[in-house]
Amino acid sequence: MNVFIVGINGFIGFHLFEAILEKTDWFVYGLDMDDSCVMKSRYPTRLEFLKGSMRENLDWIEEKIQQSDVVIPLAAIATPALYIKQPLKIFEVDFEDNMKIVKLCAKHNKRIVFPSTSEVYGMSVDSEFVEDTSNLVVGPICKQRWIYSSCKQLIDRVIWALGLEQAFSFTLFRPFNWVGPRLDNVYDSREGYNRVVTQFISNIIHNNPLKLVNGGKQKRCFTYIADGIDCLMKIIENKNNLAHNQIFNIGNPDNHCSIEFVANYMIQWVKVNRPEMQLPKIIYISDKSYYGESYEDVAYRLPNIAKAVSLLGWKPTAGIEEILDTTLEYYLGKNRKLQNVLSLPAGQAGALDVE
Ligand code: UGA
Repeated sequence: MNVFIVGINGFIGFHLFEAILEKTDWFVYGLDMDDSCVMKSRYPTRLEFLKGSMRENLDWIEEKIQQSDVVIPLAAIATPALYIKQPLKIFEVDFEDNMKIVKLCAKHNKRIVFPSTSEVYGMSVDSEFVEDTSNLVVGPICKQRWIYSSCKQLIDRVIWALGLEQAFSFTLFRPFNWVGPRLDNVYDSREGYNRVVTQFISNIIHNNPLKLVNGGKQKRCFTYIADGIDCLMKIIENKNNLAHNQIFNIGNPDNHCSIEFVANYMIQWVKVNRPEMQLPKIIYISDKSYYGESYEDVAYRLPNIAKAVSLLGWKPTAGIEEILDTTLEYYLGKNRKLQNVLSLPAGQAGALDVE
């Protein structure tokens, strides 16, 4: 099978690539603006890679789509602070650039496995979010936080319509706060350029306090990247066509925990595992001060995963402590020479591996 991963150097993209290399004999086409992980890959013969943007390489993208069996467009900006700071960039990359790829897949009748997002459920009042019945609830237009959710929702709807009208084959998957090694660049000291787990790790590295937005009682279901990739592999394999034209939540409902819990757990972890490091303080901050006026938050985010369990035979296994331990170990583990890393510019430091 030939698989085309757009955004192959990214968090999900590179973990997926590693799983494909380890578990299959598939050939991979990859596109990414960054090649820091891909260049260290041990199996270059299984990959044809182009370094560049989606926007500037449409001809190459179309050629690779034609040569592929499955296309997985993973390139997107998925950091909430940037939904507020650069909403038009979110629209251009997450919607416009990705929509071109969706249309090319439809034109050449190629199966697409597209990342929707847990964010599409927004402030849904359902106690748990179900793919085919939950309402998708976002705030008013002045709350720019929802531009990412809205972009993704509209692509979901277009893909769904293509499936109905053109017998187009697709699977939409919705990651719920996937976390693990290589999630974000923790060496960038700018606040708000990481998602919460990596933001807190960045704050620990830079001796900054952990900031609990609006008190930190809001909950997320953190999901280990390996569990997420395991499910994604089953979707790509599509045994007995069971993933055909379906939407799947991919999250771990057992890990529904507050941001406050994450902060406290990390402080304990540093105390035990890196006693020489300065212990971070916790401070409380309003969402207006942290993100700005156009932010609005989700109080809880609990996926119903019955469909993935029954159709794909998938179940997540990593508990929240294991996820945080593994991620903290990757970024802050004893073998990590943090001082050396911190002396490098942010971009370069992000490209380093654990030593
Ligand atoms: C994320 C992002 O939108 C996407 O990465 C993704 O599509 C989706 O959720 C997902 O992975 O399921 P969110 O969970 O709000 O959204 O992103 P985080 O930045 O990780 O924030 C989680 C919570 O922590 C929010 O309530 C936020 O206000 C809070 N937070 C964040 C803090 O309390 N302190 C911080 O320093 C940063």
